[in-house]
Amino acid sequence: MEVRWIGVEPSKLGSPYAAFTLLLGVWSAQGLEMSVGKIPFLEAVNGSTVMLPCTYASCIGIKDLYFNWQYNDNGTMQKVCDAVIPTEDVEPNVNIFKDRVEFIGKNHKNNISILIWNITFEDGGLYTCFGRNPKEKNKNHSAVFHLIVVDELRVVDNTLTIIIASAVGGTIAFLMAFMLLKNLTLFVLAKLEEKNKECLVSSSGIDNTENGLSGSKADSKPTAKKK
Ligand SMILES: *[C@@H]1O[C@H](CO)[C@@H](O)[C@H](O)[C@H]1NC(C)=O
Ligand SMILES: *[C@@H]1O[C@H](CO)[C@@H](O)[C@H](O)[C@H]1NC(C)=O
Ligand SMILES: *[C@@H]1O[C@H](CO)[C@@H](O)[C@H](O)[C@H]1NC(C)=O
Ligand SMILES: *[C@@H]1O[C@H](CO)[C@@H](O)[C@H](O)[C@H]1NC(C)=O
Ligand SMILES: *[C@@H]1O[C@H](CO)[C@@H](O)[C@H](O)[C@H]1NC(C)=O
Repeated sequence: MEVRWIGVEPSKLGSPYAAFTLLLGVWSAQGLEMSVGKIPFLEAVNGSTVMLPCTYASCIGIKDLYFNWQYNDNGTMQKVCDAVIPTEDVEPNVNIFKDRVEFIGKNHKNNISILIWNITFEDGGLYTCFGRNPKEKNKNHSAVFHLIVVDELRVVDNTLTIIIASAVGGTIAFLMAFMLLKNLTLFVLAKLEEKNKECLVSSSGIDNTENGLSGSKADSKPTAKKK
């Protein structure tokens, strides 16, 4: 009997671990943390209105948190808006330095997202959501969001979706392979046991008289089988 092993692609095995490490990285929050969401970029058509998402989180709490949004204009950082947030859930007075920008987060649930109305191609680029919490010795924290302005919507860049899908797919493939291997091992073990019995019966074929079923089998094939 031939045993064929079902292999698991090593590249598929890797992705669940990569995803796990990623999650660990996200969960190990201590001080202030700025976040622009799971997908840190947006592709939008010129003329549309977009939201640049950002939230902050802090396990030690905030007091007089300073935040701003900056725009990387050819290497020089231009302030888009800034404010000091006295405490959580208090709507701050936001200074706005760029046209068509609106503060829509309102610090509701630590939301400091902004809206840019009627975007132009010049609005495209990297936006940094910056935060500094005096409670933490004024340490700087930031997250970057990429706004891509296009003429018309191209095929959406699915890199992240593919990464997630392959991670999920990899995990499922891994589990399936594991279960298959388990079943196969059990099957092989059972077969081996069966063969062992057969071998025992065959080798003791000479004085085998009171062995019901296997006895008759041994009788029909008196010589030991070899494969
Ligand atoms: C987008 O830009 C193109 C090229 O500059 C222009 O023809 C088009 O009218 C713009 N669309 C909007 C909605 O502003
Ligand atoms: C920004 O970059 C564009 C193209 O690279 C260039 O034409 C323009 O002069 C630059 N503006 C500044 C302010 O450096
Ligand atoms: C955006 O464009 C629309 C239509 O062109 C205009 O009515 C509106 O006032 C613009 N909004 C801003 C904030 O510029
Ligand atoms: C932040 O507020 C805006 C406007 O209310 C909302 O669209 C967005 O979903 C909020 N983001 C989060 C992460 O709660
Ligand atoms: C934090 O950012 C400010 C600018 O907002 C800068 O002047 C300061 O040097 C930064 N501090 C650290 C420790 O990076």
